[in-house]
Amino acid sequence: MIRVGLIGAGFIGRNHFNQYEKLTERARVVALCDKEADRRAGDWSKVGGNLGDAQGTKRDLGSIKPYTAWQDLVADPGIDLVDICTPTFTHREIVTAALRAGKHVLCEKPMALNLDDCDAMLAVAEGAKGQFMIAQCIRFWPEYVYLTQVFQDRRFGDLQALQLRRQAETPAYSLNSWVLNPELSGGAILDLHVHDVDYALGLLGRPEAITAQACIQANGASDRVHALWHYAKPQVVQLEGFWDMPAGFGFNMGYTAVFEQAAVQWDLSSGKPVTVYRRGQQPESPELPPGGDGYFNEIDYFLGCAERNQRPSVSTPEESRHAVAIGLAEKESAHKGTRVAVQL
Ligand SMILES: NC(=O)c1ccc[n+]([C@@H]2O[C@H](COP(=O)([O-])OP(=O)(O)OC[C@H]3O[C@@H](n4cnc5c(N)ncnc54)[C@H](O)[C@@H]3O)[C@@H](O)[C@H]2O)c1
Repeated sequence: MIRVGLIGAGFIGRNHFNQYEKLTERARVVALCDKEADRRAGDWSKVGGNLGDAQGTKRDLGSIKPYTAWQDLVADPGIDLVDICTPTFTHREIVTAALRAGKHVLCEKPMALNLDDCDAMLAVAEGAKGQFMIAQCIRFWPEYVYLTQVFQDRRFGDLQALQLRRQAETPAYSLNSWVLNPELSGGAILDLHVHDVDYALGLLGRPEAITAQACIQANGASDRVHALWHYAKPQVVQLEGFWDMPAGFGFNMGYTAVFEQAAVQWDLSSGKPVTVYRRGQQPESPELPPGGDGYFNEIDYFLGCAERNQRPSVSTPEESRHAVAIGLAEKESAHKGTRVAVQL
């Protein structure tokens, strides 16, 4: 039984908590830290979100130990795995402390706001006793796992074009709106769009160069980005991410992948399943890989890594670092108005 200490009981922390409740034979949340007293006590009625468990709830935390300071939770010898769901600017400090304390560490995406912080985490992880993974849930999301499978087994031939989209109304749910401050969250590119950056990187590898355009606010925040990724192979790869839509738009993620013999499309907000289109045939909805959603699957997977004391391979911390690097390259391209070579 893996004893979990969860830090940060906001939108995504509450979601992780709910996933552990589905995995009680293997893991149990034994401690919870949040700097807000109500959240620490299980009153999540004011916690919102855009996907998954977006509704606020009040929970009886029973014997779960509340911590005000994350440093005390990390030092607790009764905890095996520290799950970090705090704002991005806190990740480096908490991750490195938890790894140094010998814990397994799962930390929310994006890994950090800059490469110095990512590299500091990787350096500590290198010699650490515990396993370490960034929670890149899209790599574990059934609709995206299906796309990875058809790309890898080439059942529809070579990929010719890929469009990844992540589209949202302006997020209003983060505590004190930290997510809207680009110095704390990295803006829409690092906070939202990084999901697709990481997925494309896992699927296609490093692009040679990137051309991006973004809408940049007076405070430097990039609320919208459209990026073309350039590869030596003849394929069109376009990613778009934005959270500048008015309230009421909600949230969508999706993709269109065009292969030699078929096109595959999915949009969460359409309510339609993944659909495969072939010329001269009726559209089909393929069976998706079994399991829960990406949030459940990533935690299920990382618990397995901790149980077997095995490094994650589906999503490695190095790749999460590279996703930050590419997000920063997109920002650079948008600011300069030029094509930027990608060095990782
Ligand atoms: N994987 C996803 O789909 C997804 C979705 C949302 C957020 N995230 C990521 O998760 C992280 C958290 O985002 P969120 O939307 O849950 O934010 P949030 O504001 O809803 O929640 C953050 C929580 O952390 C607590 N906190 C902040 N600093 C703390 C500290 N020093 N010690 C203890 N508690 C502290 C806050 O009180 C708050 O309850 C971010 O890195 C974000 O990018 C990932």
